[in-house]
Formats: sequence, C-alpha cells, structure tokens
Amino acid sequence: MATVAKKENKVERVKRERDALDCFDDLLTYARNGFAGIPEDDLDVRLRWYGLYTQRPAEEGYFMLRIKIPNGTLRPQQLETIGQLSVRYAQDTADATTRQDIQLHYVRIEDVPAIFSALDEVGLTTSGACGDITRNVTGCPLAGIDRAEFIDAEPLVEKVHQHFLNNREFSNLPRKFKITISGCSLYCTGHEINDIGLVALRRPSGEVAFDLWVGGGLGAKERFADRLGIHLTPDEVVEVCHHLCGIFRDHGNRDSRARARLKFLLAEWGPARFREELERRVGHKLTDGDAPHVPASSNSAHIGIHAQKQTGLYYVGAATTRGQLSGQGLIALAALMRKHGASRVRLTTTQNLTVLDVPESECQALASALTKLDLHVAPSVFRTGTLACTGKRFCKLAVTETKDRASELIAHLEETLPEFNAPFRISVTGCPNSCAHYQVCDVGFVGDHITTPEGKREAYRVYLGGHLGDDYVFGRELDRKVPADEIKYYVERLARSYLERRANSTEAFPAFIARHSAQELEVLA
Ligand code: HEM
Ligand code: SF4
Repeated sequence: MATVAKKENKVERVKRERDALDCFDDLLTYARNGFAGIPEDDLDVRLRWYGLYTQRPAEEGYFMLRIKIPNGTLRPQQLETIGQLSVRYAQDTADATTRQDIQLHYVRIEDVPAIFSALDEVGLTTSGACGDITRNVTGCPLAGIDRAEFIDAEPLVEKVHQHFLNNREFSNLPRKFKITISGCSLYCTGHEINDIGLVALRRPSGEVAFDLWVGGGLGAKERFADRLGIHLTPDEVVEVCHHLCGIFRDHGNRDSRARARLKFLLAEWGPARFREELERRVGHKLTDGDAPHVPASSNSAHIGIHAQKQTGLYYVGAATTRGQLSGQGLIALAALMRKHGASRVRLTTTQNLTVLDVPESECQALASALTKLDLHVAPSVFRTGTLACTGKRFCKLAVTETKDRASELIAHLEETLPEFNAPFRISVTGCPNSCAHYQVCDVGFVGDHITTPEGKREAYRVYLGGHLGDDYVFGRELDRKVPADEIKYYVERLARSYLERRANSTEAFPAFIARHSAQELEVLA
C-alpha cells in the first residue's frame, strides 16, 4: 500500500488523508451548498477522481467534466443522453478527446448529481476519468468488425475497465495510469505511449496472444514504452494488468509529481528487473514472445465507408474538426443512427469517430447527413489529421488558445493545398503537457510566447516528423518559435517543401524529416 513520501507534496497528503473516491457523498452536499463551500483539498484534488476539473477562468466556478467511454463505444441512447446533458448543463459543449472520452465544459456543481444519475441510467460513468487512478481504457475503433483483426478485444477492454472501476486497491496511485488494448493488426491506439499497451498478434504456434508494452507516456518528458518480451493469453490480461498497476502503486515515485509516472520507474529499473517483479507477483514465469509486425500505418485513420466482417454491414468513419462536437450535434447523430439502422458509434484516439453496423443501402444517405453535422466522411487529410488540446479557453495550464487556431489552420490548408493527400498529422497543443500528442505528430506545435516591440504574443514551438506505429519516433524540435497567427503559413510552406523535395511519391513525411539534418530542418519552411 501507499507509503508516506519523504517530502510529501500536497496531492500525496490529500490522497493519504482520505481516499479520493470517498468524496462522492460530499459532492452531493457541495451540490446543495454551491461552489464557494467546496474545501480546497476536494476542489483541487479529490473531485478529479469523479471527472471534475476546475476550468479557466477560476472565478467563474465552472468545471469541465470528463465522461469515460471504454473503447470509445457509445450506443444511440448514450450519445443522446450526453447530448441532452450538454445542452441542458454544459452550454452545448462536447469535445472528443485523445482517449476516446467526451468532455463537457461549463458544468456547475449544483447540476452534478442530475448529470451523474442520467449518465448512470445509460451505463456511463465519470469515475476515474481524471486523477491518480486508471483512466479510460482505450481500444481499437474497429474491434469486432475488422476482417483482418486477430481478436475482438473490446470484451477485454470492458473487463479491465470494470476491474479498476471504483477499486479502492488502486485509487491512490502515484499519478495517472493509462491502458490501451488493441486486437487489430494496424496497432493504431498508441501502445507505445501508454503505461500498459497490449497489442494482439498470432504466435508461431497459431494462437492469438497480446504482446506487452509498459512505461510509455507523453507529457513534458516523453518516453516510448518498453516491450517486456512477454505474450499474454486473453485470460491472463486482467490479472497481469492488476499486478502491473500494483507495481506502479507500490514503487512509483511519490516525492515528485513530475517524475511519478510509470515511465520513470521503467527508466530506473529497466525492463528486465520490471519483468522479474511482475513474474514474482504473478507467481510464475510468463510466456516469452517476439515483437509484433507493425505495418505502415497510413490506413489507420478509419475514415470513409468500409465493409465490416459482418456481411452486408459497413462502418462509416468521419473526421471531426479538431475534436469539437456539440450537444445538439450528438443528439442529431443519435437520431441519424436510428434512422439509418446503425447501432453503435466509436470515438477514436485521434478525435474522430466511426459509425458502426450501417446497412449497405443506408451508407450514402448517412454519409451526406453526417457532413451536415460537421462530421466529414471524405475530409481533407488536414481535417482528418489535426488534433487540438483543450487550450486556453478552458484549461488553466494553457499558454495559448488551440481549438480556434486549429480550425483556422485547417481552413487555410484546405484552401491553399486542395490536392495534398499524403497522410499528415498536426497537433496544436497549448502547453508542454501534450494532451494532444505533439511529439508523435508529423507537425507538433507547443504553446509558448515571443516578445515583440508591441508586447508578448502567443507563439508555438515546433516539432517535426513524430510518428507512432512502424518505425515509431518522436518529433525533432526546431530552434524557433512561430507566432501563433503565422502557423498556417508555416505549415503551408512546409507541406509545399515536402511535396517538392520528397524522394518519391511514397516517401512519408516522417521519413522525409528523418533524412534531413537539424540545420536543414530549420530552413525547410
Ligand atoms: C499536469 C497536468 C497535465 C498533464 C501532465 C497532462 C498530460 C496529458 C497527456 C500526456 C495526455 C495524453 C493522453 C493520452 O492519449 O494518453 C492528456 C490527455 C488529456 N488532457 Fe491532459 N494533462 C494535464 C492537465 C490537463 C488539463 C488541466 C486539462 C484540461 C482542463 C487536460 C485535458 C486533457 C484532455 C481533454 C485529454 C484527452 C484525453 C482524455 O480523455 O483523458 N489535461 N493529458
Ligand atoms: S496540453 Fe496543456 S494546455 Fe493543452 S489541455 Fe493539456 S494541460 Fe491544457
């Protein structure tokens, strides 16, 4: 169990004094008495365990509320409920996040009990959506429908989610803990950047297993996960996740929050010692196994109309505009799904979505109706590939505004480069915490400032050539800052430079960047 840290920081003290999950009943009291009556320790720390995070500007007393959506899967009724809650209690806001969650803004503490009971009625929860606990378990948007998948891993995602949900054995971790489980062959859910990444493969003997990766993470100090050289049977997954989380709970750094994530323990111990400790806890040796073969991931955006493995059914993948949905939009999406006979939608880890189980005869009509909801079935690569974090509008840590900037960027690139069709991922992130993955996008922008004769201006630091999947690599940081209102021109120049100078029409952007020296990168655009 958690031990008292040497120099105990505030969050460690608050968690030790009272389990954060125990603040649920108090939350109901705060809802009756209002924002001003919430004690500081609960406001700044414990409420996060129920998905509540104070939003900027602090004096307005609003919260952002994150709803956990395991594997990103929602049925029409759930979508509709979230939409109705957004309209009624969250000023019509709803953002799709990089962990397949939906986040509402402008939530008042007075409305939280009504929101929680409405979510509960449709089987949704916010418990563990934020805080030092296991976060939403992510999974493949095509689980159970992809012809080429090794296994439908969604039932395992659900089991792991249930195992950790409200589990007081694991409700006081040193820091957040992120798990992803993917059964498909494209490996697109980011196993390289999660605390636990499980990716399916077929062993030489023919059976399906999960290759285990641990200790990845972004944030201000990015680190790729290590393979432990272990293959797990589906039956071993929950138990091994249990013990991995236990190792983190007991050995993670509680002195410094900046060094508390599992990635720092991996860096300190190395994978061999970590595996030894895991096997000691499990009580036996785990099966050795080789690395999976990861294909070039150009096809992993899941956009457009594609056949499912179920005869006669299709999935329709649509790009959002940098993750921004709306309550009205979710209600309309649920209605469209009912009208066209679709039973589920899945959010992706790239802030897009796929509508599943659509009968062939309904696909085209659904696709054109989605476009009217700003959900684009035949989008530009820029709309598909641009991520934006919460940014300055709501996030207290932000240095820059991100969502509107990303929209401006997409519009500019669509206008100036209409023919550009190479996969291209752009991240507009408001501070180094990397909620929108700037280190693993083709072009990653990180919010910063520059000082000009007219005063301080928003600007962005630039990372180029980041990539997950085959040949995964972090982007390389340039020695420059681009004023925020000029990033659209910068990306346009960069994209043109790439088109003119790439070795051939199949050279991907990360490979193009990789063969340039640091000095050459500075003058590419
Ligand atoms: C120390 C503070 C923070 C750190 C280090 C941090 C770091 C991160 C990282 C690395 C991710 C990527 C998630 C993944 O895909 O695995 C993430 C996700 C996210 N963060 Fe933060 N973040 C911080 C605070 C915040 C704040 C204050 C907000 C907004 C008010 C925020 C909003 C989000 C959102 C919306 C996501 C998307 C994923 C989800 O649903 O969990 N973060 N964060
Ligand atoms: S990256 Fe920074 S600015 Fe953006 S949401 Fe995360 S903490 Fe806020």
